[in-house]
Amino acid sequence: MTTPATSTPPARRSSTPEPGTLGVYVHIPFCAQRCDYCDFATWTDRAWIIDDYVDACVTDLRRRVAADELTSASSVFFGGGTPSLLDAPSLLRILDEVPRSVDAEVTVECNPDTVDVAKLATYAAGGVNRLSFGVQSMRPHVLAELGRTHQPANVTRAVDAARAVGLEHFNLDLIYGATGETLDDWRVTLDGALALDPPHVSAYALTCEPATPLGRRVAAGTTPPPDDDDQATKYEVADAALAGAGLDWYEISNWSRAGHECRHNLLTWAQGDYVGIGAAAHAHRHGVRSWNVRTPERYVERIHAGAAPEAGREHLDPVTRAEERLVLALRTRGGVPVHPDAMTETETLTRAGFLTRRGDGVRLTRRGRLLANDVTVRLLAAGAAQPAPTLSHRIPVGTR
Ligand SMILES: C[S@@+](CC[C@H](N)C(=O)[O-])C[C@H]1O[C@@H](n2cnc3c(N)ncnc32)[C@H](O)[C@@H]1O
Ligand code: SF4
Repeated sequence: MTTPATSTPPARRSSTPEPGTLGVYVHIPFCAQRCDYCDFATWTDRAWIIDDYVDACVTDLRRRVAADELTSASSVFFGGGTPSLLDAPSLLRILDEVPRSVDAEVTVECNPDTVDVAKLATYAAGGVNRLSFGVQSMRPHVLAELGRTHQPANVTRAVDAARAVGLEHFNLDLIYGATGETLDDWRVTLDGALALDPPHVSAYALTCEPATPLGRRVAAGTTPPPDDDDQATKYEVADAALAGAGLDWYEISNWSRAGHECRHNLLTWAQGDYVGIGAAAHAHRHGVRSWNVRTPERYVERIHAGAAPEAGREHLDPVTRAEERLVLALRTRGGVPVHPDAMTETETLTRAGFLTRRGDGVRLTRRGRLLANDVTVRLLAAGAAQPAPTLSHRIPVGTR
């Protein structure tokens, strides 16, 4: 007798870090060209320091392993900047120094312009198993407005190259709300992204950072600032389109098929421990948050001098930790437990359609996700994060 084949859908990964999990974030602060909206720690005129920088990351990692600060990583995330700007052997020299569990997730952020089959094949052979592509838009005039260098066709080529080498676990980053982007443009972007059958999509509301070309244009009045209502509509359109294609939200700006959630990001949202390697990298260990010197030159100098690259640290007191836990957890599908002190406010927010019940807790509805800041502030004010809150944590909806 034959048994009918059954397929069990992969389970959603939990937002609670498993005991013993440890992430490693490696910052690669180099880009070919700076996009008009981007305020990240990245430089376009430092090609001369790249080899020294890679050496410094390797040395930094060796020291931390020797000091027993870094045993077995469950996730490694190369972020930027544009990590894929490094040649593949250089990136793998860094990765080779990270002791990691057999099933560790290893992500590399890539600009679609900087990858081909040969580079991705070398990544895959060296242990990279997840890619994140900066797509932003599938409309050429929106890409131009954002100051991007690639064309939509480059995205298709990059995704084809990933699949050709067996890298099926990838993310597409999208941005909505640029000047001149109509609702139809955004739908074309979503349709174009979904046509590539991605297992994971991040969609961010464009934020206007003062120290960027976009920020200066907005300050000078030559470009209008992103419009809240337009971005709210685009968020709803994205959520419906992505959910319709089988990608459920698991954090305000992140959607995935079950089992394709980014483990590294889940770890950071759950206040897990992670080590920061490279210029401007942040770390979190046992309730202490620290950050490295910002420029690649200073990072290389510090490491050459045998010094720690850390520029500062803060001990997170129990109040701050509890508040941050609520802020971060509320942004996720896992939501937050209902605190007895905040019962009345939680019920009011649930009746108003911002929260919905989830077991013994609550999570944001789609409407609630659009107003996540306000919901968070109200829950904090009601005492949902003990001890008493300061209302100091505001994270704009739909941003990184
Ligand atoms: C380090 S980049 C991704 C990799 C690569 N550097 C690239 O852009 O192709 C990280 C992502 O942050 C997002 N991002 C950066 N600045 C942003 C802003 N001001 N508003 C919204 N999203 C932003 C973009 O979606 C970008 O893909
Ligand atoms: S969005 Fe990516 S490619 Fe553009 S400047 Fe920022 S880090 Fe570099």
